[in-house]
Amino acid sequence: MKEVYNFGAGPAMLPRPVMKQVQEGFLDFAGLGVSIVEVSHRSKQFEALLSETDELFRRVAKLPENYEILYFHGGAQMLFSAVPLNLMGRKPKRMAQYVETGNFSQIAATEAAKFGRIELAASSAANGFAEIPKIIPVDPEASFLHITSNNTLFGTQYKEFPKTGEVPLVVDMTSEILSRPIDYSKTGLVYAGAQKNLGPSGIAMVFVRKDLIGHAPKDCPKLLDFAVYRDNHSMANTANTFAIWMINLVLKWLEGEGGVEAISKINSQKAAVLYDCLDQSQFYRPVAHKEHRSLMNVCFNLAQEDLLADFVAQAQKQGLYALKGHRLVGGARASIYNAMPLAGVQALADFMKEFERTKG
Ligand SMILES: Cc1ncc(COP(=O)(O)O)c(C=O)c1O
Repeated sequence: MKEVYNFGAGPAMLPRPVMKQVQEGFLDFAGLGVSIVEVSHRSKQFEALLSETDELFRRVAKLPENYEILYFHGGAQMLFSAVPLNLMGRKPKRMAQYVETGNFSQIAATEAAKFGRIELAASSAANGFAEIPKIIPVDPEASFLHITSNNTLFGTQYKEFPKTGEVPLVVDMTSEILSRPIDYSKTGLVYAGAQKNLGPSGIAMVFVRKDLIGHAPKDCPKLLDFAVYRDNHSMANTANTFAIWMINLVLKWLEGEGGVEAISKINSQKAAVLYDCLDQSQFYRPVAHKEHRSLMNVCFNLAQEDLLADFVAQAQKQGLYALKGHRLVGGARASIYNAMPLAGVQALADFMKEFERTKG
């Protein structure tokens, strides 16, 4: 099969060695002669896999002991509901602050408003979401402050997280989890849908400070209550065995590559190749302002917009797949998550230069 580099924003490219392991190991989990999708989640083999995955997360993410790891159903947007449900009642005002930096932060805030009062702490809407707000005032009365650390659609990223003092910082890290070192002790809760840097879609990871669990209302649906996940090792109902197996393999791959610090250096190199290509050109126009650029989603427009469809089609012919920007934003987007090798990014930069030479 011809080598294809997948620049899709999610579900996204996963490490090729992991994909091969999945293919080879699909029919026989842990030597049982049955597949991971057939084995009981209560079997000692699966429970061992889950515990091993916890240990891998703790090691790879350098997650402190006072944080619980939850495997959450429904992907990242399920956390748009679960976070306010679980945390809003911590303070009598039932108020939370949200920072608006793109469509996912907007959807998160709209959903949270069903469970309490939402205050917009800051917004970059006036700048077309091309940057991250520089000043984020924190209200000590807030139950939590929510940010989206990497904006998948507009290609912006917080270089540093806001300091929120006693107010728990909640971070949606869906499109950058484990792509760079993070001091989790400065956060209250981090969540991420798996489908970019961890595994298949439909499952999300939650790293949550232990004292923030147990504040859900009595009528909270069972599978949205963090305490239920904690008390049942994320197996109050049938766990997503296949996704957890893949996440386990991706974490082992990441550790084998040198861990988060090593991948973070490669991620910076990859992004630099593309941003240099954009900055040296009059033909391509980067979306995000320089100091807020994402290392994961490189978004750009073509000066001649009518060439976009041709750009995307020609790229695909050369094995550079899914470069079309999000339908709400337009333009082009190269998503270069952990699994994208430097060679893929170089192939894209070469293609872009050649396209500009011939069409510009
Ligand atoms: C930053 C961010 N948050 C949330 C989501 C929604 O994730 P899901 O589709 O798993 O609910 C996405 C999806 O791409 C995302 O990029």
